[in-house]
Amino acid sequence: MKNLVVFASGSGSNFQAIIDAIRDNRIQAQISGLITNRENSGADRRAAANKIPVAIISDPDPSSYYRQLQNQLANWSPDLIILAGYLKIIPAEIVTEYYNRIINIHPSLLPKYGGKGYYGLKVHEAVLESGDQVTGCTVHYVNERYDEGDIIEQRIVPVKDHDTPESLAARVLKTEHQLLPQVIQNLLTQN
Ligand code: GRF
Repeated sequence: MKNLVVFASGSGSNFQAIIDAIRDNRIQAQISGLITNRENSGADRRAAANKIPVAIISDPDPSSYYRQLQNQLANWSPDLIILAGYLKIIPAEIVTEYYNRIINIHPSLLPKYGGKGYYGLKVHEAVLESGDQVTGCTVHYVNERYDEGDIIEQRIVPVKDHDTPESLAARVLKTEHQLLPQVIQNLLTQN
């Protein structure tokens, strides 16, 4: 059985989409654990509800943050690491150790609206300000710079008249929930 480790600190709806896809056999793997830097986040609560082990790693000191991550990952030995709403940068040593085994989902058509500062509603506000007719979501490999690793797959989502950042975010998020489990299963069966 392949092992997944999910990093998430937000509402955890993408984490939930992975849990649901495993339950429905759309992903053949198990989630070894959740790594989060925010106790009592939605993701943390979803892990508890599904009896998934949680590691809360929030040490502000970079070297002990790295060591804790490294130990936890060594314990869980992931075949694939999924960042799903995790804002902290992954230390370069971890990126190297798990080269091409760390992916992230981002709520825009990268390289548009990616990088530091483009998170949450800020992404969708920028799309609306630009007047773009379409947006979407991207799953990409993670390197040590925000949102810059190679793109694996994208889905396009229409921007509608009268969209607000919130309505656009909700439409993109629904598509994320379809895209992420598909990419995970594809990657697991390729390797
Ligand atoms: C998603 O929009 C994802 O693309 C981004 O963070 C958000 C996480 O949402 N990286 P959720 O916590 O999965 O609901």
